[in-house]
This record gives sequence, structure tokens and C-alpha cells, in this order.
Amino acid sequence: MKIGSNEHKQAFCRMLLDTFDAYKPAIIEWPTLEPDALKRITELPFWDVAVQTEGFASIRVQSFANTLTDTLLKEAVALNAFEEARHKHVLEHMIRAYNIKLQPEPDYKADKDPEWSFLRTGYGECFDSFFAFGLFEMAKRSGFFPAALVDTFEPVIREEGRHILFFVNWVAWQAANKSFPGRIFFRIRCIAALIINAFGRLDIAGSAAGGSDNFVAAGGQNFAADFNIREFLELCLSEDARRMAPYDARLLRPVLMPTMIKFVLNFIPKK
Ligand SMILES: [Fe+2]
Ligand SMILES: [Fe+2]
Repeated sequence: MKIGSNEHKQAFCRMLLDTFDAYKPAIIEWPTLEPDALKRITELPFWDVAVQTEGFASIRVQSFANTLTDTLLKEAVALNAFEEARHKHVLEHMIRAYNIKLQPEPDYKADKDPEWSFLRTGYGECFDSFFAFGLFEMAKRSGFFPAALVDTFEPVIREEGRHILFFVNWVAWQAANKSFPGRIFFRIRCIAALIINAFGRLDIAGSAAGGSDNFVAAGGQNFAADFNIREFLELCLSEDARRMAPYDARLLRPVLMPTMIKFVLNFIPKK
């Protein structure tokens, strides 16, 4: 399959559309948690950031869908936006069920330039999803997340995997379909979106629970008492590979985070 071809576009759009899961947040039954589990969950520092990340993502992705004229692409990007809004609804239902206190939410607005909005969101998700895969598995194994909650959030994590897979393929397809100068400009925008997201994540890692638009760094060590950075990064890598495995093998995979983390692991001593 030629990257940038119509066949490529069909494949990455169909991947997203054909794997849609029609769950409804409103009918999720939130399990009654034991007092210590409830305390652990409600005290996690990242619920504000999580809700806001989904709020911004849905608005930004929908603003991009609105500009598209290709019917299939529009349908797929609109589904991506719908799923982001649904993630926010899942979180809102959980927050109500467990009486979690949130800061007032910002006014969610997309950027003036919808393609930029989509690039920003897409690269942000590439960072966040990679770590979320590892955090989720770690919380599951350590028993931090009760099994019933793991089941509830599994579709959300799975969807983020589909989103980043869709996004990296759209970037490659879009770049291939531009003129030479257009492609250079587009690639510069991609790098800019990437750098802005990288700095946003570093910033959050420094100040833990700030009201920014990323939530992974805001809660790393909460999930396991014997947190080991090397084991965690290895888990992120293996979970990323596992979650990307089921989809159309002809599609590109997100390589930025796995490559960077494999490089970083060279400098982290084994126990
Ligand atoms: Fe999301
Ligand atoms: Fe997403």
C-alpha cells in the first residue's frame, strides 16, 4: 500500500470507523468502592487535567472535522471528536458517582486554525497515550484500580490507541498529498506542534498538578509504591506494542515515543 494513496486513506479511516464501540457513558454502573480504594481514586491529582484534556480535544478535533470536504475523512475525524466528548462524559459520570471535587472548567475553544488544532491535539495524544498505556497496566497489576474500574476505562484507553494510529497515518497521508512547498510548511507545523506538546509535558512534570492540558505526568507515582522508572518505561513500550498490534498491518505505527524511550532506556541503569 502506497502511503498517501486513496487506498491508504481508506485503510486508516476504515480502521477508526470499523472499530467503533457504541458504549454509552450514562448507563455505566459505577461500582461501590471500598473506603480505601475510594480515597485513592478521588485523591489522584489528575482528574481536572483529564477532564480538560478531553474537553479541549473534542472541540479542537470537531473544528477540524468541520473544515473537511472528503466525506470519509470527515466522518472519521468527526467520530474521533465524538469519542473525545464521550471520554469527557465518562469522566463526568465518574466524578459525580465518587464525589470528586474539580476546579471550575475553562471556556473550551478551538484555535483559529482548525488544522493546527488537530495537529496540537494529535501530537499531545501521542505523548499522553504512550504513558497512559503503561500507567493503566501498572494500576491494573498493582490493584490500585479495582477490577470493575479497569473494565470501565479499558474502552477509553483503547480508543486513544486508535486515535494516535489514525493521527500518524493522517499526517503521512496529508504530507504526501501536498505540493513540495506545502509539504515543507506542513512538516514545520508538525514539528512546532510536537515541540509545544513536549514542553507542555515537561512543564507539567515539574509542577505536577497544574491546570494544563495533559494528565499523564500529573500522577505517575500514585499507582505503585515501588515505582521504578525503567520498569515503567519498559511497560509503556510493551503495552504500546500490544495495543497497536491488532490493527491493519499495512498502516504506519506511531514511532516517535517508542523510539525516544528506547533511546532514553540506554541511559537508565538496570536494577
Ligand atoms: Fe480522549
Ligand atoms: Fe483521543
